[in-house]
Formats: sequence, structure tokens, C-alpha cells
Amino acid sequence: MGLATRPGPPKKGNLMDRIRIRGGNKLNGVIDISGAKNAALPLMIIPLLTPETVTLHNVPRLVDALRLQRILQNHGVDITTAGKRAGQAGGAGETLRISAKTIVDTTAPYDLVSKMRASFWVLGPLIARMGEAKVSLPGGCAIGTRPVDMHLQAMEKLGAECVIDQGYVIAKAKKGLKGGHISFAKVSVGATHAALMAAVLAHGETIIENAATEPEITDVAECLVKMGAKIEGIGTRTLHITGVTSLHGAEHTVIADRIETGTYAMVAGMTGGDVTLRGARPDTLEDVILTLRRAGIDITTTNEGMRIKRNGSDILPVDVTTDPYPGFPTDLQAQFMGLMTKAKGKSHIRETIFENRFMHVQELARLGADIHLHGDMAEVRGVAKLTGADVMATDLRASVSLVIAGLAAEGETMLHRVYHLDRGFEDLEGKLSGVGADVTRIAGA
Ligand code: UD1
Repeated sequence: MGLATRPGPPKKGNLMDRIRIRGGNKLNGVIDISGAKNAALPLMIIPLLTPETVTLHNVPRLVDALRLQRILQNHGVDITTAGKRAGQAGGAGETLRISAKTIVDTTAPYDLVSKMRASFWVLGPLIARMGEAKVSLPGGCAIGTRPVDMHLQAMEKLGAECVIDQGYVIAKAKKGLKGGHISFAKVSVGATHAALMAAVLAHGETIIENAATEPEITDVAECLVKMGAKIEGIGTRTLHITGVTSLHGAEHTVIADRIETGTYAMVAGMTGGDVTLRGARPDTLEDVILTLRRAGIDITTTNEGMRIKRNGSDILPVDVTTDPYPGFPTDLQAQFMGLMTKAKGKSHIRETIFENRFMHVQELARLGADIHLHGDMAEVRGVAKLTGADVMATDLRASVSLVIAGLAAEGETMLHRVYHLDRGFEDLEGKLSGVGADVTRIAGA
């Protein structure tokens, strides 16, 4: 086993940075799994609901987390960073103390929100605590139209008046929010967060039906409960919330990142070798683990996390359809396609969550992959050989699928636009180098 890796400082996301991959190495050793980006971001937002301090441990060092800190500071939130606590495991992230004692501004401006969709989620807590909010419509990865209609419907069910004016959502609930019955037409992670964050301070009872059950929602709900919120049905499709008049401070550790875990499991499955993913939470990845086992990858769960092995056996083709949790995550679709490019046979990958999430197909083709698109379905014919090339990251998860393919390609792959990666993968090149991959960041001029 190789040495455990240590996270470096957050990357600046330089527009011109590139990552050079020389494929062919088998990987062996330990990778520490970071805290989940998709839990850390909403967990950083919920301190807006209380004047007391919320302490978060294991916050990943990511460009998106830094951006969100800037957005929160704009509202008057005070954030202090503490280093690793004594005795914490190697991969433990930052500790943030977040205090929204006074909110000085209820506007979230375009130049900040447009860079990261999750920052739109300040809407709910701001209305709940301040009775008003003006939040720019969001940006984020260009993987589909990604509307916010369900967020606004949820706010309106809780008694807020919402209008859209010059690219901003302006929401008001001057007499405070009141409990309501929210029934989502489809499952949305963001809209569930929004409804939950607002309902905890609304007057009376709220029911959220068809709620998302992603482990990151559960993590946020558990932190809200520590803050004094009354929530029943956590982890199920129906949430019952009894509003309270105020919330208090709390301390919480961000859950392990299941998407990062699944990504490194696919990396190790692709290259072969023996890699332990320390701190992984296999209970949040059951569908992914079953899928990878069907693809011929040996996965065992251990006290430390998960151990991934493939020594000599073929990668087998497996059909996959993305679905809300507990189904196969859309955030691992691109990576799985990367893996299937080398499978011994034909696989079908159907994307049901986002309509434009196949931008990696063209780039994988540059490495020699054989993929045909039929609407929302990609047909992947495994090839015996991939060959290194210049490729471009198009969005956060797509970019890492190119890393997976590049690690199995002959020769050198140069990944451009790695700022997409820096939004969501902590110290990717450090973690991969730590287990024997030849991966180097080349700083842009
Ligand atoms: C979150 C995740 C993202 C993941 C996605 C789906 C974070 C920070 N991001 O994104 O990584 O890929 O869940 O698991 O946690 N929709 C509407 N109207 C709305 C809201 C959503 O039609 O008001 C649609 C979307 O266009 C999409 C589907 O619902 O087709 C699911 O999106 P949603 O779960 O809301 O994704 P995000 O919360 O943006």
C-alpha cells in the first residue's frame, strides 16, 4: 500500500491550467475521500437561519466552497477557518465556523451567483429569517436548462410572493413564512433543499412530498435537527416539518463524498491494481457498487471504507440508467462511460436527469472511444486500445471521465480547462499521484 495523500491548498482554478496524464500505470495504495461538495455547500448556507455559530468539519477545499464563502460574506456572514484538528485522519478537510449574527444584505448579486448554481439556495433561508431576498437566477454547469420553477413554487406554498425582475428572483414574506403542503412534480435535490431550509422556520406544519432522498439532503436535515429544527421522515420521500421560532448553533461533520468515491472506484477499476478508498461510505453507493461488481471489478467494504481491485480480468459491459437516489447517480454517468469505453463488448447508458449531459462523448472519441448517441441514450462499444490526445473539460463530472480514459490510454493526454475539475474534486492530481498515477498539473501562463 502506498502512502496516504494529503490535500493541498484549494486550487485557484486558473483558466489556463492543464493536466497532463501519461496512461498505463496500475494504481496501488490509499486515497482519502473528502467531504461531499454537494453536502458542504448547503451546510454552509443553513447557518443563515440562526444568529448563532455553526461549526462544520471536513469541508472540502474546493473552488465552489471558496466562492460560496464570498457570497455568504456579502450577506454579512462571518466565516473563520481552522486547520485540521489534532488526531483527524489525513484527508480531513477544513473546519469552518460560520456566524450569521447579523445579515447586512439580502441580495445575492449576479456576478457571484452566476458562477455556481448552488448559491441560489440562499433564497430559502434569507426569506425565512429576513422576510425578503433578492437572488440572481443561477449559473453552474451547462448540462441542461436547469430551471428553478420548483424552488419558487415551494417558496410560494410557504407564503412568499416571488417575482422575476431583470434576472433576479425577488421574494417577500413580510409577515414571515407559514407551513404548507408541497408536492413536487419530480424529484429535485435543489428544490428539496430550498423547501426544507425555508420550512424549518415557517409558522406551523409543512409536508414535502416527493422529496429527494440523496444522502446529502439527509446530512443537511441532520444538521438542521442539531440546530433545533423539527423534521420527521428524514431519508424518505415525505418530510414532515414543524416550524420553530428560532434555531441555534451546532457542530457537524460533512458526510464523505459518494461521487468522489465512485469516481476513484472507477479509476481503479479502469487502471487495475488495488486501491483503498479511506473514509468512503459504501452505504451511500449501493447501486454503484452493484454496477461495478457486474462490470467485473472486485469491491469489498472494510472498516476503513472500500477496497477496489482488478487484476488481469476484463472490464465487462453493463447497461446503466441514471435515476434519483438510490438509483445510479447522474453525477457518475460520465465517469462510468469513461470506464465502459474499454469494456469487452457493448453497453448502453441512459441519462434521465439532465438533457444535455453527453458533452464528454465528443472528447472521449478523441481518445479513440467508440460511442454513438441516440437521444438520451449512449451506445458504447468497448475498444481494445485508447490513445492519448488533447481533450477539453466541458463540465465538472465530464472532465473527470476524461481523466479516467486518459489513465488507460497509451501515451500522453492533455486535459484543458481543468477549472471545471477544481470546482468539485479536491487535490485530484495529488490523490492520483499518491497511488502511482502519472498525473501532473501544468500551471497556465
Ligand atoms: C444537484 C446536484 C448535482 C446533481 C443533481 C442531480 C448539488 C450542488 N448539485 O443539482 O450535482 O447532478 O442534483 O442529482 O447538490 N428541475 C426543474 N425545476 C426546478 C429544479 C430542478 O425542472 O426548479 C429539474 C432539473 O432541470 C433536472 C432535475 O429537475 O432535470 C433534477 O435537478 P436537481 O435535482 O434540482 O439538480 P440540482 O439540485 O441543480
